[in-house]
Amino acid sequence: MTRPGTFNILARDGAARHGTLETAHGTVRTPVFMPVGTQATVKSLDPRDLHDIRAQIVLGNTYHLYMRPGDELVARLGGLHGFAAWDRPVLTDSGGYQVFSLAGLREITETGVTFRSHIDGSPHLFTPEKAVQIQQNLGSDIMMVLDECVAYGTEYDYTAKSLELTTRWAARCRDEHPIGQNGRLLFGIVQGGFYEDLRTISAQQLMEIPFEGFAIGGLSVGESPDEMRRLLAHTAPILPDDKPRYLMGVGTPMDILDGVALGVDMFDCVLPTRNARNGTLFTSFGKINIKQARFKEDDSPLDPECDCYACRTFSRAYLRHLYMARELLSYRLNTLHNLRFYLKMMEEVREAIGQGAFEALRARYRAAYEQSEQ
Ligand code: GUN
Ligand code: ZN
Repeated sequence: MTRPGTFNILARDGAARHGTLETAHGTVRTPVFMPVGTQATVKSLDPRDLHDIRAQIVLGNTYHLYMRPGDELVARLGGLHGFAAWDRPVLTDSGGYQVFSLAGLREITETGVTFRSHIDGSPHLFTPEKAVQIQQNLGSDIMMVLDECVAYGTEYDYTAKSLELTTRWAARCRDEHPIGQNGRLLFGIVQGGFYEDLRTISAQQLMEIPFEGFAIGGLSVGESPDEMRRLLAHTAPILPDDKPRYLMGVGTPMDILDGVALGVDMFDCVLPTRNARNGTLFTSFGKINIKQARFKEDDSPLDPECDCYACRTFSRAYLRHLYMARELLSYRLNTLHNLRFYLKMMEEVREAIGQGAFEALRARYRAAYEQSEQ
């Protein structure tokens, strides 16, 4: 097996790259979309479903799994791979972001972040070391450093101090998990809010630390799409060319294609899974809502160009009925479809980069997604 952490770029098309990232649970072909499995499950799907739609790697959340059922319990039951019967790579977020978005009464110090559980109000402390230990207990293939993601609109001085703290925390995470240990990887996270110069400083400081990859955090936090693209276009090219780049928590199909065009290799987002559960479906002809009356007696497949089980088997009329009746199968079929749409798009992206046809592919998606506003 090739050494985990090895990142080989196989093809380039403009700034877009197609490559392979080695992990302790196999190879990830990039650019990749990682379905979100916050609670050690991609909501409504099982591992067989994930294999069927050709998911390569899934995401888990340190914050949630530490709270419930507990990372030490997960460790005793074989880590996330054994516990959740998932045999492919797992990436875990550090908990930083969830503490800032979910938990109550946070207090940030040099040591770490204290907060109250969103489940029972109990007090907890995450230090950089603790965040790494939890991710080690979860058996994560790709761990993320503990970071502070500042809210949209945070002023310059606070953002500048915050990114320095994120850098010091990142160095402590690397000390807690030295490079190469157990074949598990650790990624740094660039912060710096919506200030280009602070993004540069954050990236430069983190690049002094030997991470196996670099994430761009603090985006998709309430800014306009134009603002996100401005920061991404500034930040992505600064990051090392020979390491994977991961845009956290983004986004729509067009956000992802625009990220790929700027040289991003990895993406995760709750959008396809969350939208599936409220009937919003991504198709080759744009975004639709299955509850619309026009689908009431529509006998055609949801998306004739999709190869997922839902599209191969059921009509729009049936999918609409399941949704209107709030049937459990609606969640599963809609999630299967939306994730397959994202994963198939990434397969097309990888192939197009190999053929020098990425811009043509992006234009095709733009034509479908301009009219449906995503
Ligand atoms: N997920 C989306 N954005 C972020 C971020 O800035 N930091 C972390 N840790 N996770 C994220
Ligand atoms: Zn489908």
